[in-house]
Amino acid sequence: MPGATLAVIGGTAMNRWPGFEPGTAHAVETAWGAPSAPLVEGRFAGTPAVFLARHGIGHHLPPHRINFRANMQALADIGVQRVIAIAAVGSMLEGFPPGAIALPEDCIDYTSGRAQTISDGNGADLLHIDFTAPFDPLRERILASAPDDGLHAGGVLGVTQGPRLETAAEVRRLVRDGCGMVGMTTMPEAALARELGMEYAVVAVCVNWAAGMGSGDIHAEIEASAARGMARVGNLLSAVLPRLSR
Ligand code: HPA
Repeated sequence: MPGATLAVIGGTAMNRWPGFEPGTAHAVETAWGAPSAPLVEGRFAGTPAVFLARHGIGHHLPPHRINFRANMQALADIGVQRVIAIAAVGSMLEGFPPGAIALPEDCIDYTSGRAQTISDGNGADLLHIDFTAPFDPLRERILASAPDDGLHAGGVLGVTQGPRLETAAEVRRLVRDGCGMVGMTTMPEAALARELGMEYAVVAVCVNWAAGMGSGDIHAEIEASAARGMARVGNLLSAVLPRLSR
């Protein structure tokens, strides 16, 4: 498969990628099995990029069923060097309301039972990656060319197991831990990218106030804000991808 060195992983509501001109879809297999969906090569704002639908075509895979190792291995196998991962999140930050996007600076992993490393016996090298700053340096490069359109630059992303949303007490604990937003898919994705030598940053799309933080119905909030957030993701990618491919 001809090599685009940039990949975008689409999350909830990202199976259609506004502005993406899809080319050939490649069904691939890795040492860990098949990724969530075929890898779609194409162009975004003229820039070659590979797109992977994290939840599969038609969004059939819940977070705990995603084969993260296969997804990240598939991208590494075709020579991807940088991964921009889109993730829907709930927000606990006043300055990051539904419909806004963020470039979180760090994350805390609350997931359990997910296959989280490629360093998994059978003679594989033992990897203790430095994960002090999980999203740098790519996050810094994105920030340098990002439009200022509703972008929140920072925040700690708590990654929960799901698929249920959190209780209000769990969200209060996340806030005490220093989290400003909560999603379900960034881990182990980010760590696997680092193990495989790919730069990785997450663009968080706020689709709701986290449990107990808002006053409305969470699902109605998600419904009302997802399209606005995705339009912002589209603007961000159009501005940033041409610069990153250089
Ligand atoms: N919690 C966890 N994951 C999410 C949320 C949330 O409130 N919203 C979107 N993904």
